[in-house]
Amino acid sequence: MTVTKDDVLASLARVACPDGTPLHRSAALSDVLATDGKVFFSIAVDAGEVKAWEPVRKRAEEVVRAIPGVTSALVALTAERKAGAARPSPAAGAARPAPRGETVGVPGVEAIIAVASGKGGVGKSTTAVNLALGLATLGLKVGILDADIYGPSLPKLLAIKEKPQSLGGTRLKPISRYGLTVMSIGFIVDEETPMIWRGPMVISALTQMLREVEWGALDVMVVDMPPGTGDAQLTMAQQVPLKGAVIVSTPQDLALVDARRGIAMFRRVNVPVLGIVENMSYFQCPQCGTRSDVFGHGGARHEAERLGVPFLGEVPLHMTIREKSDLGLPVVATEPDGPHAQAYCAIAARVRDQLKGATRTAPRIVIEG
Ligand SMILES: Nc1ncnc2c1ncn2[C@@H]1O[C@H](COP(=O)(O)OP(=O)(O)OP(=O)(O)O)[C@@H](O)[C@H]1O
Ligand SMILES: [Mg+2]
Repeated sequence: MTVTKDDVLASLARVACPDGTPLHRSAALSDVLATDGKVFFSIAVDAGEVKAWEPVRKRAEEVVRAIPGVTSALVALTAERKAGAARPSPAAGAARPAPRGETVGVPGVEAIIAVASGKGGVGKSTTAVNLALGLATLGLKVGILDADIYGPSLPKLLAIKEKPQSLGGTRLKPISRYGLTVMSIGFIVDEETPMIWRGPMVISALTQMLREVEWGALDVMVVDMPPGTGDAQLTMAQQVPLKGAVIVSTPQDLALVDARRGIAMFRRVNVPVLGIVENMSYFQCPQCGTRSDVFGHGGARHEAERLGVPFLGEVPLHMTIREKSDLGLPVVATEPDGPHAQAYCAIAARVRDQLKGATRTAPRIVIEG
């Protein structure tokens, strides 16, 4: 039985907004995506009215789940700034912090950190996975969330093919791999599907993965962010209750420009930058051991000093890291005594230390939007 957008809208006629308007007529409703029995949509509300809308969100989910043929329904509230409020521009630098709507933590999760960069392909996902594993070797209970809805990486990097089980039809059980608790949209939808998602859907799916997955008790949740510093990333940085951000950059000037944008973005939303990792820092020939600084080693360290953020360490450009990643066998888990694992574990130790500092000296200021 095929569920259509019209079926969903018809069922939403039975859900009343706080002012009595039926939800299907409300301007707050995003576009509705119904595909293969899976339904996604979001309701955009003012940050101050989230409490009043939560019962509407719940009711909407109930009525949609009751439609014959619906296998899952994801409905999320996206808190928007009031109309007319200045839209923060990451490029405008860190002059004044942008309003940050109230973010609610994820129950049981002590600290959520983002691994990000302005630029694509610099090794965020590879770093996120090995950093998460490095934090786990320090004795922490660690989860990893793939926030790259358009191009999820964790199914490949951790060689995960199974689908998360549904718990009572309302929550999902995350996947366990190498001691990490893992969730990615790539476990749920076909690889091609995310490409057609629109902005609010992405936020919906993310909120759902944060709040409707049984993460359990975690010391740290590492979030592998999508590339860029556009609206999607900014919204995520605002909506996910982040304790800090780790910026990954390669040493070239161009990548550093993007890393700078990433740092400015997090600063604007009052998320402490825990530091910069220089990935593909230098090339060590696997045959002769000769080292060459292909991208001009040290750029990220200098940039960190210039911007006054900690330098967390460097990871060489090495065939083993790439090959192992592509096979779903991350080096920290599969070659724990090797030099690459040691580099990642040293970075993890610095991140852990920075996290302690982040809570102690830089409490996040929450400003109502
Ligand atoms: N230190 C490294 N040495 C060798 N290869 C690496 C290293 N770090 C990452 N790679 C490789 O570079 C490619 C891009 O890495 P990755 O997918 O982690 O980047 P990303 O920043 O997450 O990309 P995207 O912006 O697309 O999300 C992958 O093939 C990965 O295996
Ligand atoms: Mg990635």
